[in-house]
Amino acid sequence: MLKKRINLFIGLGFFLALAGGFSASSQTSDQAWLQALSRDSVEQARPAFSLQVRALGTGALEQSAALELRHGFANLTSASFLVDAHSNPGETIVGTAKELRKAYPNLPLPSAIEPEGFWLYRTRSQGHTLVVVAGADQRGVLYGAFALLRLLATHQNLAHLNHIDHPALPVRWVDEWDNPDGSIERGYAGRSLFFEGGHVRADLAPVAAYARLLASVGINGCNVNNVNAAPELLDADHLKGLARIADAMRPWGVRLAMSVDVSSPQKIGGLSTFDPADPAVKAWWAAKANEIYALIPDFAGFTVKADSEGQPGPSRFGRTPADAANTLAAALEPHGGVVLYRAFVYNHHLDWRDPKADRARAAYDIFHPLDGKFAPNVIIQTKEGPIDFQAQEPVSPLFAGLRHTNQAMEIEVTQEYTGQQRHLVYLAPMWKWVLDFDLRAETKSENRSTPVEEIIAGQSFHRPLGGMVAVAGVGRDGWLASPLAMANLYAFGRLAWNPNLTAAGIAQEWTRQTLSNDPVVVRTVTKMLMQSWPAYVNYTGPLGMQTLTDITGSHYGPNIEASENNGWGQWHRADHLGVGMDRTVATGTGYAGQYPPEIAALYENLATCPDNLLLFFHHVPYTYKLHSGQTVIQYIYDSHYQGAAEAAELGTEWATLKGRVDPALFEDVRARLAYQAGHAIVWRDAIVQYFLKLSGIPDTKGRAGRYPGRMEAEDARLSGYKVFDVIPWEDASGGKAVTCAPGSSERSCSAMWTYTGKPGRFDIAAQYFDLQGGVAQFTLMVNGQPVASWAGDAQLPSPRPDGDNSTRHTVHGIALKPGDTLRVQGTPDKDDPAALDYIELTPAAN
Ligand code: GCU
Repeated sequence: MLKKRINLFIGLGFFLALAGGFSASSQTSDQAWLQALSRDSVEQARPAFSLQVRALGTGALEQSAALELRHGFANLTSASFLVDAHSNPGETIVGTAKELRKAYPNLPLPSAIEPEGFWLYRTRSQGHTLVVVAGADQRGVLYGAFALLRLLATHQNLAHLNHIDHPALPVRWVDEWDNPDGSIERGYAGRSLFFEGGHVRADLAPVAAYARLLASVGINGCNVNNVNAAPELLDADHLKGLARIADAMRPWGVRLAMSVDVSSPQKIGGLSTFDPADPAVKAWWAAKANEIYALIPDFAGFTVKADSEGQPGPSRFGRTPADAANTLAAALEPHGGVVLYRAFVYNHHLDWRDPKADRARAAYDIFHPLDGKFAPNVIIQTKEGPIDFQAQEPVSPLFAGLRHTNQAMEIEVTQEYTGQQRHLVYLAPMWKWVLDFDLRAETKSENRSTPVEEIIAGQSFHRPLGGMVAVAGVGRDGWLASPLAMANLYAFGRLAWNPNLTAAGIAQEWTRQTLSNDPVVVRTVTKMLMQSWPAYVNYTGPLGMQTLTDITGSHYGPNIEASENNGWGQWHRADHLGVGMDRTVATGTGYAGQYPPEIAALYENLATCPDNLLLFFHHVPYTYKLHSGQTVIQYIYDSHYQGAAEAAELGTEWATLKGRVDPALFEDVRARLAYQAGHAIVWRDAIVQYFLKLSGIPDTKGRAGRYPGRMEAEDARLSGYKVFDVIPWEDASGGKAVTCAPGSSERSCSAMWTYTGKPGRFDIAAQYFDLQGGVAQFTLMVNGQPVASWAGDAQLPSPRPDGDNSTRHTVHGIALKPGDTLRVQGTPDKDDPAALDYIELTPAAN
């Protein structure tokens, strides 16, 4: 993990005080994409800029902007830039448009800069260079400074700088699902930045550093606690702690928001009810809002999850989401706060035997009838798709279903269903697809397009508010643990600012700032990022089947039946004849009819339904032919082999960057990609063997169920190891593996095979289950001689051997001849029984 000490620079003391008071001696921080300015010397920028930075006003954000520029400029060049500055005196002026107009009446300032927007300009007069960062307001000044630094860091030609910009969406928030005990729901990067042991942490330096990162991409709000909200966070003590968090984020223009439990008036307020229509409940919320704003004058608002997955809600009293939202909104309104009421409301006790039951319908069924009934400071926060952040889903029809109500789109940066940051999956292409999706919400005669990005910007239906919210899941372990996963956080900010940016353009920008401006690095990493989501869809759940994972547990490895025969409603309805959920109006759940007519017709009809969402809308036989001409079953086989190959390719591409990026980061990413390639094979084999068995239809290419180089552990000569049935069966090769369970008489167990093939050099992959709670040791021996040893020390989900923790270790270039013995010795440790699935021989790659 790249951890860089924040560089010292002139004015550091003040800067650090603004940043929340972290001390230079103790605090290290991974500056993520902001590190570029301390890494490069930006030669192109030299003639354009002068070191002197002057803020015209005294506003806190303006000061942050000026200090950030000084910091950036100082780091840019340390030597050459300073020299240039002396020979070319001039200034960089930072201020609001109003301040600039007053101080420099002759500047060609644009007549209007939109809220939070900025104007960047460079001019020369009488041998002086003047660079202007003019903000529409304080936030605009700060965003302008970061934009200027981004242009420098990505080596843009700034000779004729004259650039005006503003955010497309007013609400640009991250949601952190942090719990007061310091754990993070669906977080994969260690513990909370905000909480520990039931309280707000004493050291909030990382919060300030995070707010700086957020500000650099224009994010203006941060909700710091789990949507499954702990009511005690609203008590007087916790509010004081939350006020300290708000203080740490304020210099970066990031406003604090929090999730609230609607039953708080009863749970912590001592009332006998939390009925939103009850006057005492309304008064309780109003008083609570007053208390919050007395401590946090710029408090952004509440996020609400109610009547969902066990959370209490207004339905308890026969009230609607509008009743609950409006009660909260009324409390916040005098202070300028907003309510983000989540449309993620559904019954998770659906009857799976009912062919008409459909979770996908829920948001529209519940919220569409309430359109127009929400207070002006309520925003309905709708997940991008109708289910739950799956690898691939259609766009939520609710975006077109609310025309008199503000809406925000919720997406997930934390990779809950998309590989949990252990897999490289750059999600911007998926988000872009959603943002660009034209719901055709107007009637045909009006012939107007209504892409999601325009709906959530408030443009399509003339709404004053709207936005984009990302569940971020940052933790203390390098923000998102995986360096490349940070591209997702970056992309969220950039798209919330400007949904018209391209996913590839954002990838390039991020790579230049985070890794290097070396064209080879930029080209390669951009390519890898752009390949990663389609690859993940290919090896997990293609054709709109969603992520075929353990949906009631980890949401990580393959578990194809986990979604069936339960009330959670993430069904794919696979049986021995066919697969897919019939959501048509004609014969299914009617979900397709929730879209505006053009889109409804597109999905309703098999002839027009796009292949990539076919099984979300239709139940078809395995022999059904896709538009491509392939059968569904053959596509399932092919896409999984292709996806696993693409995952392996990511590692091959990264290998070409050795020596071109930071060595520690290179090694970190290399190891992650090697793991991903192995786990993609686990996914591939699980899904392929599952559908082979279920359908009984062979793979025309002869791969499914046939693994020529594989030697199964259950077929080996075992010493100590015992054969067991892996659950679910598809997570192990042939459904079985061996375990060196506690109680076995020996300290180590072994599995031995005799090689009978032709002489040659091989790569030998051992597929084992790396369980938490112990570090099992493995040794591969050839003819009794150890050739490799490794430790099962990963932290993977699931306490039992299955697809969550099935892991591959490959030993390269081993010479074998007929009669040689191969032996894997496994030494269990505590809760890790050194379970083994198979070894696999492939001709050595080199
Ligand atoms: C998913 C996720 C939960 C989360 C929920 C939500 O179901 O697995 O952990 O609480 O989404 O968005 O509310």
